[in-house]
Amino acid sequence: MEQEVILKEIKEYATKNYVPILQDISLDLILLVLKLKRPDSILEIGTAIGYSAINFSKYLKDKNSTILTIEKNADMYKKAVENIEKAGLSNTIEVINADATEYLEKIDENEKKFDVIFIDAAKGQYLVFLENALRLVKKGGIIIADNVYFKGRVLSRI
Ligand SMILES: C[S@@+](CC[C@H](N)C(=O)[O-])C[C@H]1O[C@@H](n2cnc3c(N)ncnc32)[C@H](O)[C@@H]1O
Repeated sequence: MEQEVILKEIKEYATKNYVPILQDISLDLILLVLKLKRPDSILEIGTAIGYSAINFSKYLKDKNSTILTIEKNADMYKKAVENIEKAGLSNTIEVINADATEYLEKIDENEKKFDVIFIDAAKGQYLVFLENALRLVKKGGIIIADNVYFKGRVLSRI
């Protein structure tokens, strides 16, 4: 099935089922960054049902470039794998079903680093994610975190 059709279906599913996916405005900004950077490797923390990862795949460097994305919720993980398969991206996007706070610790920065790291999971764990992202990002790489201010609610607690 054509990728744009699949993305439209995923977005509709997300709206119907209250799955929190990237808003259009944030997605457009990130895609612009990826278009300029053309990363060879992306690490995503918080897959949900694969909407952002499938979108990001459009601006990878080449056919051998990869996305590693981590999702803790088993149902979301299953749906993400299904959607990624439908999009024909199983060789490009690897989904891990794990709590990222634990899984990230297992990635050795001497063996694997990423051009772009996208943090989009539990806000309360952002500092842990950031510490790991700083360790795992390549020199000259980019770390992006969605919704840091979460409509002002995070700022109002500081
Ligand atoms: C905002 S959604 C991700 C949306 C997705 N990036 C997109 O735009 O299509 C956040 C996801 O992070 C997952 N999550 C929350 N805490 C997590 C953790 N500690 N490890 C892995 N995934 C986590 C949630 O289950 C949820 O599916």
